[in-house]
Amino acid sequence: MQAVILVGGEGTRLRPLTYTRPKSMLPVLNRPFLEHMLAHLRQAGVDEVFLALHYLPDAIRSHFGDGQGWGLRLHYSVEPFPLGTAGPLRLVAERLHSTFIVCNGDIFTDLDIGEAVAFHRRHRAVATIVLTPVEDPSPFGMVETTPEGRVLRFKEKPSREEVTTLWVNAGTYILEPEVLQWVPPNQKYMVEQGLFPDLVRRGEAVYAFRSRSYWLDMGTPRNYLRLHRDLLLGLVSSPLRDEGVVECRPGVWAAADVHVHESATLKGPLLLGPGCVISPHARVIGPTVLGRECRLEEGSQVAEALLWEEVVLHPHARAEGCILGKGVCLQAGATVGKGCVLADGVVVGEGNRLDRGIALAPGTHLPPRSVSLLDGY
Ligand code: GTP
Repeated sequence: MQAVILVGGEGTRLRPLTYTRPKSMLPVLNRPFLEHMLAHLRQAGVDEVFLALHYLPDAIRSHFGDGQGWGLRLHYSVEPFPLGTAGPLRLVAERLHSTFIVCNGDIFTDLDIGEAVAFHRRHRAVATIVLTPVEDPSPFGMVETTPEGRVLRFKEKPSREEVTTLWVNAGTYILEPEVLQWVPPNQKYMVEQGLFPDLVRRGEAVYAFRSRSYWLDMGTPRNYLRLHRDLLLGLVSSPLRDEGVVECRPGVWAAADVHVHESATLKGPLLLGPGCVISPHARVIGPTVLGRECRLEEGSQVAEALLWEEVVLHPHARAEGCILGKGVCLQAGATVGKGCVLADGVVVGEGNRLDRGIALAPGTHLPPRSVSLLDGY
């Protein structure tokens, strides 16, 4: 089966992390997010995938190549300007031969794709939209259906008074190639506001498949951290979860060459990437992920945080509830607190205290003791 994954967006909500990597290449359990998606699709019987790119396309193309290493045939379609969520499908229309799957490239789900495809075929649909239930549909695309699942109406970002159902568009679709004739070529066009409402108006068989599978849009710092928490706590799994790591003590998954000093404290769930060094009296409290070659020096502490590769905490530095990009360095006694996002190469000088979701752009250097946010403000 064929699939198209939309990975061309700029990921503005995940800035500053996405200044240097496209959203779909951000690490999740130390592997690019897209690897998890591809593994999930492959498990469902997908063997050929078109990646619809625009923003930082080379980062994706050079990593995956022709897809052989992932057991897939991969093709790349690079848009000269962003074509939205339906426009990119039109670009590859001639190469889509039968029922195919479309995925937003920022959704983590363990959806049973086979079941959704069977539903689509049973209803002889031309388009099937996977729906997920949410507590508040206002930031999403609400989809009203008949009891049998035929789509009646779409409402993007409904106001409180307009909410008639808690089922929203989950960003996964099953389509027949024939619907692509209704997508205008070479212009931005959306499935949510354009193609799907148009198909419904034309009286085409558009169905909705209601799924209670795990579903998370990882496109904000909070959700990106949450995805790690959920994976580490086992609330959802990934086919790649245990690759290259072993559970060396309960709740602690580590690569083979991790060095942990006997006086250090590890409290799971934790994932420790290859080459990590945890020095005397350092503490790592889960759910936490350390990327490849992180170094926690004496008495430093990391709790409920996500560290990419080569992050260094000097003695008694602390990182809690935050995301630290590649090569971030917290000098002695520096503290980075809840919700903070520090992009690649940031250096936080001695004694700084950052908190409350402060975000720092790639390569920022904070001189020693230049910022100290007070508690309680
Ligand atoms: P934000 O700026 O944070 O909203 O992120 P985004 O635009 O990257 O993502 P959004 O949630 O708006 O889009 C859903 C999915 O569609 C993501 O996987 C995007 O990469 C992808 N996407 C959005 N716009 C385009 C586009 O113009 N072309 C392509 N190929 N993909 C897109």
